Amino acid sequence: MKSACLVTFGCQMNVHDSQRMEELLRADGYSFVDDPEQADVIVLNTCSVREKAEQKLRSEAGRLKRLDALLIITGCVAQQEGERLLRSMPYIDAILGPDNLHELPAVLRTLEGGAPPQVRASFDTDAPQFLVHQADTSNTPVSAYVTTMKGCNERCSFCIVPYTRGPERYRQADDIVQEIQRLALGGVREIVLLGQTVNSYRDPSVPMAADAHPDESQFAALLRRIAHEAPSIRRLRYTSPHPRHVTPDLLRAHAEIDVLATHVHLPVQSGSDRLLKRMIRRYTREEYVTRANALRAARAGLTLTTDIIVGFPGETDEDFASTLSLVDEVGFAGLFGFKYSPRPYTPALKLRDDVAPELKQERLLALFEKSESQLRAILATRVGTRQQILIEGPSRPGAKTLAGRTLHNEIVHVPESPQATMGSIATVEVLRANKHSLEGRIESIDFAGEIAQVPSFRRVSLPVVSEGA
Ligand code: 5AD
Repeated sequence: MKSACLVTFGCQMNVHDSQRMEELLRADGYSFVDDPEQADVIVLNTCSVREKAEQKLRSEAGRLKRLDALLIITGCVAQQEGERLLRSMPYIDAILGPDNLHELPAVLRTLEGGAPPQVRASFDTDAPQFLVHQADTSNTPVSAYVTTMKGCNERCSFCIVPYTRGPERYRQADDIVQEIQRLALGGVREIVLLGQTVNSYRDPSVPMAADAHPDESQFAALLRRIAHEAPSIRRLRYTSPHPRHVTPDLLRAHAEIDVLATHVHLPVQSGSDRLLKRMIRRYTREEYVTRANALRAARAGLTLTTDIIVGFPGETDEDFASTLSLVDEVGFAGLFGFKYSPRPYTPALKLRDDVAPELKQERLLALFEKSESQLRAILATRVGTRQQILIEGPSRPGAKTLAGRTLHNEIVHVPESPQATMGSIATVEVLRANKHSLEGRIESIDFAGEIAQVPSFRRVSLPVVSEGA
């Protein structure tokens, strides 16, 4: 049997894409190994959102070149660099952009037949294709990612994604709902809807009303359909929304749909209006705060996490102080903080990357310190409360405790118990708060999990403070 090793860098979209590539290759007779040394085919699914992620690919590829395996580069760096990657790393066998991943099995067959290295990096704007879960997935995860759209029409000045993933293209709502129904039948209990600006979703099969604004979202309607038409889905999350599309309709959805998580990851990027403008985020600090508060008013106890960039060109001490004060004002339950990294093709390249690396580091640490203390305070308020968790599996491989998540997306570790199978929903009493998670004990099993097999899912980490890859 041929074996493959898949290494994933970057965001949830990449994790999703890697899972789908794994299914395609399994269907083609490949088994999977963790050690690249044991593989006939190595796929590096790459990220180029920051320079560090791109460097990681280059060092990983350099390390692997001595192996006698086919080396395939997929994802955002593949799209960004295309042919150039082959020139700088002639030992690569194929390069596939995000819209060409479904071609992987066919490309491998030609390579195995002796074909020369290949580059496939074209956007499928005319007839968009979406990677979906294969019907015969034998390992049912508790939680599954489902794509709703791809690409991005925003032009945030720092961001390379519109150039690596192309313009927005949406999946038909019927297709999305059918995929979710199929997953639900297989035992999936939680769906995480994915899109670069997931809440700008529109159903391409529904004609736009003549008086509709050209970027009017139909995301709330999609959430309603999923809740009604796939009732055995107990948790519904989405990532990542753009604050610009937090519409009154979406707020109503949060108020009305029980299975919708009481947590939203809503990237803000900065608390300074001057910088938000330079970043081309298309909202002000005040608009962000108003929407964040509206989400919390729609659903009691809703928590928010966010993404923040420090050291964007021209960021002064005063701008950064505004970011810290925004973090105070909103009270995030976690954040991803990043040092600004200039990226090819982006509008911000025209601005000078003028914040010294030491200052970026200092600001990042100050941000983390604040965010850590906010998370600690939020987790402390959970002690003594009862929460419903969806049990995802052992806390760590071989651990005697199980980990589940609350509707707020907080991880709770509980002692093993025979009834608490993966996919069960349990009421737990929270006994202790750790730095980034909770500990508790199971009071009752409210909904028995039907998943007997240990799935090969990879847990998505709670956005706690971290310098992203
Ligand atoms: N530099 C630093 N961080 C970036 N992000 C996107 N582009 C850059 C960049 N050039 C961050 C943003 C985004 C997250 C996924 O990555 O915070 O929300």
